[in-house]
Amino acid sequence: MTTKMVLEALKRVTDPDLGVDIVSLKFVRDQDITIDGGRVSIAVELATPSPAKREGVAAQVRNTVGVLPGVQHVAVTTSFVVKSVSAPEHGKPPLPGVKNVIAVGAGKGGVGKTTVSVNLAVALARSGARVGVLDGDIYGPNVPIMFGLQAQLGSDEHKRIRPAEKYGIQIVSMGFLTQEEAPVIWRGPMLHSAIQQFCRDVGWKDLDYLVVDMPPGTGDVALSLSQTVPAAGAIVVTTPQQVSLADSRRAVRMYQKLKIPTLGLVENMSFYECTNCHHQADIFGHGGGEQAAHQMEIPFLGRLPLYQPIRVGGDRGIPLVIAEPDSAGTRAFMDLAEAVMAQLSVNAHRAALANKGKIPLIQVK
Ligand SMILES: Nc1ncnc2c1ncn2[C@@H]1O[C@H](COP(=O)(O)OP(=O)(O)OP(=O)(O)O)[C@@H](O)[C@H]1O
Ligand SMILES: [Mg+2]
Repeated sequence: MTTKMVLEALKRVTDPDLGVDIVSLKFVRDQDITIDGGRVSIAVELATPSPAKREGVAAQVRNTVGVLPGVQHVAVTTSFVVKSVSAPEHGKPPLPGVKNVIAVGAGKGGVGKTTVSVNLAVALARSGARVGVLDGDIYGPNVPIMFGLQAQLGSDEHKRIRPAEKYGIQIVSMGFLTQEEAPVIWRGPMLHSAIQQFCRDVGWKDLDYLVVDMPPGTGDVALSLSQTVPAAGAIVVTTPQQVSLADSRRAVRMYQKLKIPTLGLVENMSFYECTNCHHQADIFGHGGGEQAAHQMEIPFLGRLPLYQPIRVGGDRGIPLVIAEPDSAGTRAFMDLAEAVMAQLSVNAHRAALANKGKIPLIQVK
């Protein structure tokens, strides 16, 4: 048994997101394989934090190598390095300390952007990623309430805003500024430069994902922020009603115009889930969000229940994903996180190939 033989066998193991074998991807190399008699140890470095995907690859590796002649035991460890979706077509410089910015927007207010942002952030962190949240809703910052956090923002050694922290997540919000400092009167050009400063002068520390809770709608603030933040992708939140779906089309169009790839549509308050018996009822009909996503030719990222503990968690500052880690609602947020991690992983891989001139860059429609 040689490392070469093991590596040869590992060409049959494919990365579930990228559909390419882990040897070509250099997720495992010669030096990651140790052979000691019949015992083989293999360290694989993936591009996704997803525990499910990592375990899937580890199982494939164990099965593939385990059947090689002379192998008695296979020990597999996995690690990950999230890749950045570099998006040269935006022409926006990356945010220092941030690999991927995820914008969470909607065509209108009150559909659950902040709820989705906060729970998505916690779900991503629970998967093992390093995560931050930027409260982009400068006139109505709700992120501090939903994280149960009141903080004074200090500055770091580079005189940048030092994010507050809760549940292992780095957080910046206008809500942390005192009333007198709160820039509620920002207008026009001042608004744009204030947003620029607010976005760019933060000392984020090694973030895999920065979730930006976007201001409601597609007005000045949302537009200004979308133009400033180098988003790797945008998630559009909608509710199942026709009016909300119609508004979400405007949001999708705004991101498309700004050349921010749409990661997909999420249907929030999609169906009612009873707190007692967990019966689920489609009070607004079924399939509206999915159909709208299909019509807009963007991915459908899933349905989130209208579930009282989600609201209670928001008011108490204990997001559902933490308060009820095993609930169906939490599973829905974890699935959303999985879909987002997978898409960004694919987009980063494609961007890297495009930068090397190996494939044409996908044009964002
Ligand atoms: N799936 C859900 N189940 C139960 N309550 C929810 C759900 N999603 C959101 N809510 C509640 O609905 C209200 C509005 O949600 P949220 O503040 O997240 O919306 P928003 O789009 O950020 O609103 P705004 O436009 O004002 O920023 C909150 O009280 C929140 O707790
Ligand atoms: Mg909000």
